[in-house]
Amino acid sequence: MSVIAVVGAQWGDEGKGRVVDYLARDADLVIRYGGGNNAGHTVINPHGHFKLHLIPSGIFYPTTRNLLGNGVVINPPALVRELDDLAEAGFDCGNLFISDRAHLVMPHHILIDQLEERERGAAKLGTTSRGIGPAFVDKVARRGIRVVDLVDADGFRARLDTALRRARRIVEGYFAAGGPDDELDGAIREALDPEGVAATYLAAAERLAPHVVDGQALVDEALRDGEHILLEGQLGTMRDIDWGIYPFVTSSSPIPGGASLGAGLPAVRIDQVLGVAKAYTTAVGAGPLPTELIDDAGERLRERGAEYGTSTGRPRRCGWYDAVAVRFSVRLAGYSAIALTKLDVLDAFDSIRVCTAYRDPETGERWETVPAATSLYERLEPVYEDLPGWGTDTTGCRAWDELPPAARAYVEHLESLAGAPISHVSVGPERAQMILRDAAGEGAVSAPGDAARNVHVGSA
Ligand code: IMP
Repeated sequence: MSVIAVVGAQWGDEGKGRVVDYLARDADLVIRYGGGNNAGHTVINPHGHFKLHLIPSGIFYPTTRNLLGNGVVINPPALVRELDDLAEAGFDCGNLFISDRAHLVMPHHILIDQLEERERGAAKLGTTSRGIGPAFVDKVARRGIRVVDLVDADGFRARLDTALRRARRIVEGYFAAGGPDDELDGAIREALDPEGVAATYLAAAERLAPHVVDGQALVDEALRDGEHILLEGQLGTMRDIDWGIYPFVTSSSPIPGGASLGAGLPAVRIDQVLGVAKAYTTAVGAGPLPTELIDDAGERLRERGAEYGTSTGRPRRCGWYDAVAVRFSVRLAGYSAIALTKLDVLDAFDSIRVCTAYRDPETGERWETVPAATSLYERLEPVYEDLPGWGTDTTGCRAWDELPPAARAYVEHLESLAGAPISHVSVGPERAQMILRDAAGEGAVSAPGDAARNVHVGSA
């Protein structure tokens, strides 16, 4: 048995969903431990092409149980919509479980998210407008409403009334200087209408009730039975509430420390951590992105990589691989190994750049790590190394040895810069396009001189 956390090593959208989908065939339990339906996990498998927002990526294996952990914030109507979509594709999702301790995203959270972004103006964070931040604010302020509260309809209505009284005061504050525009007017009325919200949420609760469990009891039993557990991360280190590019961060912790809290398992039970990094860099939303390319190369990365947000459809900002950011993530997350995704997107480039340090244009100072001051990080410039491209289509490669020598050299170079072994390389979105980099073909990847850090993920 083993417990593996799958964690984003960059700005999010690294391909965690496809990696979890790939690994989940050997998993008994997959747990989402943070975030909410701001997530957008794209999964392409023999059943079709899916965009998951809340539901863990192990859902396609009927014998794999999937848990939305206590660390996730759940929008019940959005979850019901996702269940409906999967039901239409033939998945009844009887293997989905929801922690009774998870907090709810309410319509007024979404409204406040949008109002706060409007108020920030040019300094907006570029959130997904899914109400994630305000839901976590209420959780920490000890006034959140949890899944377990949906069981008692009268108790839920009472909590909702209290929450809406407060929300009304906030909304009035935003509009003290002027009136809401037409677009928001309807949204405000809906979000602040206790009867309407209660009806929608209690109807969703009825639909979700068969899935609600004591999440910790489920996890504890799985641990005692020696089951194979995957912890599915959302977003990446650079958007972590503590370690990311504050304030352009999300409101939970994507790194493995967040996995223990948000899944409900002891930190010492996490055996391995698999980092996921793209072979280049992308981000949606605002904040520093030192290697961003505002040119043809960036456009080529976006088009070749279909880099548009899964949740919001926003074009992703694209740039070269940032080894400083990934190394920062390695230090925080202690990856046993890294899965490198979308290597094939680089097939068309004659020359490929890798950022190995930053330089402050004002002082000339060299930076080898990510600074705390976001304003400083904004102005740091990448120091690049140029590597030769391989100019060959890699999407048909199925083994490490089949990759062109320059592609292997690129991966090996990133590995040495990261200080963690790269165990998996993907050359396309299909399950078969995941290359395992081990001699035995069993998915066991050794970190040099450290057998205990092997990541075993089953056979190809
Ligand atoms: P929030 O989580 O919606 O509050 O957004 C905070 C930041 O995280 C924004 O920059 C978002 O664009 C970014 N973000 C949130 N969810 C995702 C995701 O699933 N992929 C990539 N970026 C995300």
